Amino acid sequence: MSDKAGRVHETWSSRWTFIMAATGSAVGLGNIWKFPYIAGENGGGAFVLIYLFCILAIGIPVMIAEVLMGRWGRSSPVHTMYKLVDDAKAPRIWHGIGWMGVVAGFIILSYYSVIAGWAIRYFLQVAGGAIQSIDGQAASDLFTSMLSSTGTLVFYHSLFMVMTMFVVIAGVTKGLGRAVRILMPVLMVMLVILLFFSMRIGDFPAAFKYLFSVDFSSLSGPAILTALGHAFFTLSLGMGAIMVYGAYMPDHAPIGKTVLTVAGLDTLVALMAGLAIFPIVFANTAIAPGEGPGLLFISLPVAFGNMPGGMAFGMLFFALVTVAAWSSSISLIEPAVSWLVETGKATRLQAGVGFGLICWLLGLGTVFSFGPWEDIRLFQFNFFEFADFLTANIMLPVGGLLMAIFVGWMMDQTIVRQELDIERDWVFNLWRAVLRVFSPIAILWVTLEGLSDIFGWEWLSLMSWLS
Ligand code: PFF
Repeated sequence: MSDKAGRVHETWSSRWTFIMAATGSAVGLGNIWKFPYIAGENGGGAFVLIYLFCILAIGIPVMIAEVLMGRWGRSSPVHTMYKLVDDAKAPRIWHGIGWMGVVAGFIILSYYSVIAGWAIRYFLQVAGGAIQSIDGQAASDLFTSMLSSTGTLVFYHSLFMVMTMFVVIAGVTKGLGRAVRILMPVLMVMLVILLFFSMRIGDFPAAFKYLFSVDFSSLSGPAILTALGHAFFTLSLGMGAIMVYGAYMPDHAPIGKTVLTVAGLDTLVALMAGLAIFPIVFANTAIAPGEGPGLLFISLPVAFGNMPGGMAFGMLFFALVTVAAWSSSISLIEPAVSWLVETGKATRLQAGVGFGLICWLLGLGTVFSFGPWEDIRLFQFNFFEFADFLTANIMLPVGGLLMAIFVGWMMDQTIVRQELDIERDWVFNLWRAVLRVFSPIAILWVTLEGLSDIFGWEWLSLMSWLS
């Protein structure tokens, strides 16, 4: 346990470093790749609004709780939960929060790495001139041809996994932490430039209307569940990644303000990515908003291929997407690695290599699901879709639900208040009320309704019980 093991971790040098690391974890493929495509699959406006609401009313309160747990426990999520459960004299079943996070991290990293591999591949494609003057149809063909080459996908998946392990083994605060501090702002600036460019060549009014005009009639139970799940995914919540970073946070840094900054930056990047991508989508009949996971990789090459200096710009863009994914991927495996290192049973090297191999193997399932396994379905999902659904839409929200209940109801409230000492009374009370009552009910409800719609399990629907 943490106290016996002592503080085996380095502490972030400052609150700012924590913000950068947490933002590094939060901003990643979820913002640039996933948000636009799921917004497109779920009809735009109403989905975006629900997503923003979930960030504000559920994500931020739960994030505060997760950071607080981590800072109090000061160790890996598994050991933090041991300590917190001991302190609160809660039943041992609550240890499950830590363990579930470890498993969720493995599964997410397994497919995350495959998609990050696509970004590396695209960096090289752009460098090789493959997207010069490309149109929507050719961009779509280019993407399909990449997917049909299993060997290519395995190669880039492996490369990204090696990159991730390299940083994980070297330790968290060195190297990448420093790089992210410079590269994240560059990514933001590039997104702004890209946004202006796609405004010029694309159909910006249509994109804006699509993303921000709300038509609730297009919203289904599963769409709401996807929005909730994505709020957790994009903020890296519910699985211990933020908890383990919280463990490295200085004692008296204000948690509330810090969390707001991270969530604000994360949301900004997602919206900018959407506003850069959809104008191009609407200006090209060959690209559909509901295109799916290929949306980013089909739409943006059309912009890069047709703008002055597009080759350099495109290369830089995909390089930065890779870096953003990289700084997220290390946080996906850090809960597992830090746990094993703390037990004293393995070094960082051994833990990193061992866990990396497991994720790599699991990732092959995702690779194949874009090729030979495309039609192998569990319920209606192929392997990749199932891994994504299970983690983002079930495990992370359930993890968040349990954290909200644990901090809201089980933990000693004087500790909780003490951890949030800088927060004003009314802010604290509001946060606590939302965390104790609103967040758990909302998460539970949305998850049950979503599942009941997706699988046709009506008995799960609270609505049908009530009516
Ligand atoms: N937040 C990351 C993204 O949006 O790409 C993904 C992620 C990282 C999810 C770490 C969960 C996590 F623990």
